[in-house]
Amino acid sequence: MHESILEFRGFKYLKLSAWMMLVVVLAYALHQPNVGPPNGGTALGYALGTLGLGLIIWLAWFGVRKRRYGKGKMQLEDWLSAHVYLGLGLIVVATLHTGFQFGWNVHTLAYTLMCLVIASGIFGVYAYLRYPQRMTDNRRGQTLREILTQIAELDLKAREISATLGDDIHSAVMAAQEKLAFGGSTRRMLSGRDPNCPSHAALKRVGELTLGLPVSEAERGRALLALLARKTELADRVRRDLSFKAKMDIWLMFHVPLTFGLLASLTAHVVSVFFYW
Ligand code: HEM
Ligand code: HEM
Repeated sequence: MHESILEFRGFKYLKLSAWMMLVVVLAYALHQPNVGPPNGGTALGYALGTLGLGLIIWLAWFGVRKRRYGKGKMQLEDWLSAHVYLGLGLIVVATLHTGFQFGWNVHTLAYTLMCLVIASGIFGVYAYLRYPQRMTDNRRGQTLREILTQIAELDLKAREISATLGDDIHSAVMAAQEKLAFGGSTRRMLSGRDPNCPSHAALKRVGELTLGLPVSEAERGRALLALLARKTELADRVRRDLSFKAKMDIWLMFHVPLTFGLLASLTAHVVSVFFYW
C-alpha cells in the first residue's frame, strides 16, 4: 500500500464517504421522532442501523475479497481506499443511529468494538504509510539477508584478530558471537531494542581490555574495536527492521479478531431488538 491509497482516484472514496456523512447528518438534523428522543428504534434509527450493518458486512468482506486476486471489476486498491474512507464514515452513521443513547448493554458493546476496529484500522493506515520508507532508510540499500551476511563476515574477521590478542579478549568476542540473537517476545520485537545485546556488551568489555594491550598489539586492538562497533551498528539496524515489520503486522492481530467480535455482538444486538423490543 502506498500513499496513493488515501489520494486514490482523486479522493473518489473520500468524496463518496463525505457525501454519505452529509446526507446522514442532514437526515438526523431534520428528523423528528414520533415519540421520545432520537434513538435506534425510530424510522431513521432503523434506516441508519441497516446502513451501518450493511457497511460493516461489506467492510468485513474485504478479508475475503483481498484473497481472491484478479477477480471482479474493482481493483484491490479501490477496495482498500473505499474500505478506509467508508470505514471512517461508519462512525457518523452508527453514532447517529444510536441517537447518542449508550448503556451497559450488548448494543454499546457492539458500538465499542466497532470503534476499536476503526482505531486499529487507523493505526494500520499510519503504519503502511510510514514504515516502508523508514525500513528502506534503515536498510540503506541492503536487504536484510545482506546485512546478516555482513554480520557473519565481520564475525569471522573479529575471531581471527581476537585470537591473536589473548584469552580474555578472544573469549569475550566468542561469547558475544554465540549469544547474539534477533527476535524474541513480541514486545521485544516491537521495541526494536535489546538492552542485553551481547554485541554492545562485548564492545564495551573489549574496549576496556584493549586499554591494557602492549603497544605492539594496540593497532590490532583498534581494528578489532572498529569491527565490533560496525557489527553492533548492523545488529541495531536488524532489530529496527524487525520492529518495523512487527508494527506493520501487529494491528491486524486486533483488526481481524475484533471484527469477528463485532459481527457476533451485532448479531446479538439485532436479534435482541427484534425479539425483545
Ligand atoms: C440492521 C441493523 C440494526 C438495527 C435493526 C438496530 C436496531 C436498534 C434499535 C431498535 C435500537 C433502539 C434500542 C433502544 O430503544 O434503546 C438500537 C439502539 C442501538 N444500536 Fe442498533 N441497530 C442496528 C445496527 C446497529 C449498529 C451497526 C450499531 C453499531 C455498531 C448499533 C448500535 C446501537 C447502539 C449503541 C444502540 C443504543 C443502545 C442503548 O440505548 O443503550 N446498532 N438499535
Ligand atoms: C467496522 C469497520 C471495519 C471492519 C469490520 C474492517 C474489517 C477489515 C477486514 C476483515 C480486513 C481484512 C484483513 C485481513 O483479512 O487480513 C481489513 C483490512 C484492512 N482494514 Fe479494515 N475494517 C474496518 C474499518 C477500517 C478503517 C476505518 C480503516 C482505516 C482507517 C481500516 C483499515 C484497513 C486496512 C489498511 C486493511 C488492509 C490490511 C491489509 O491488506 O494488509 N479498516 N479490515
